[in-house]
Amino acid sequence: MSQRTVTNVLKSQLTSDGAGVTLRRSIGSQMLEELDPFLLLDNFGTENPDDYIAGFPDHPHRGFETVTYMIKGLMRHRDNTGAEGLLKPGGVQWMTAGRGIIHSEMPEQSEGEMSGFQLWVNLPASKKMCEPRYQDIDPEDVPTVSREDGTEIRVIAGIVDGVEGPVNGIDIEPVYLDVSLPGGGTFQHEVPAVHTSFIYVFEGIVDVAGEPVGSDHLAILSEGEQISVSSSMGGRFILLAGRPFGEPIARYGPFVMNTKDEIRQAIDDFQNGRF
Ligand code: CO
Repeated sequence: MSQRTVTNVLKSQLTSDGAGVTLRRSIGSQMLEELDPFLLLDNFGTENPDDYIAGFPDHPHRGFETVTYMIKGLMRHRDNTGAEGLLKPGGVQWMTAGRGIIHSEMPEQSEGEMSGFQLWVNLPASKKMCEPRYQDIDPEDVPTVSREDGTEIRVIAGIVDGVEGPVNGIDIEPVYLDVSLPGGGTFQHEVPAVHTSFIYVFEGIVDVAGEPVGSDHLAILSEGEQISVSSSMGGRFILLAGRPFGEPIARYGPFVMNTKDEIRQAIDDFQNGRF
């Protein structure tokens, strides 16, 4: 079985988004504009309310999916269709923005730690204008696989040891795992050989095919059937894999389409209240 190796390791960059939320960005930054089919990866994580309290007031999305995975803290979500939900620690929201949604994502706490990830996942050209759709997944509906060596795997999407994650019907056929490795632990996982895959480490240090990857770093993986991650001192990371589309990308802020004309249309539709 072919092993995936590390083709590149990038340190995420501190930046600010929304109304002033401090976060670490890796995909979707100047150093890595996209990693087909992934368009953006933000890791927010702070105990300082000043870094998150302003939240993400009303803003639009068109042409892709936003995936929020809360690790600590509470985030209230509201949109222009009247949908509303509360993201809890360990919960996931997989939102397919499709032809357009205007929403806010605001902290429902004024103190304490807030941490998690927001990932943007592209849609194929044929689905960019689909009806918006949500998968709001409570923490207890994300299964945890516990292995003998102490490794714990939360399965958001994909299958581990026969345990299937709750996310369904997504075009990239995603794998999304949150893996906690104890010191001396090893985790191996098979994915389709040509799917794009990366890990993002947010605690400790892990080793991918002989390459050390530290906290706050993104490791892009080569093609191959098997991913093997170990750690001598312990570490925690998310592992993503998905089918790339190989389609042209035209991008302007919260709109990700295939052509500049479609971007102009998105701006016009948004400004004229057609979302
Ligand atoms: Co948003």
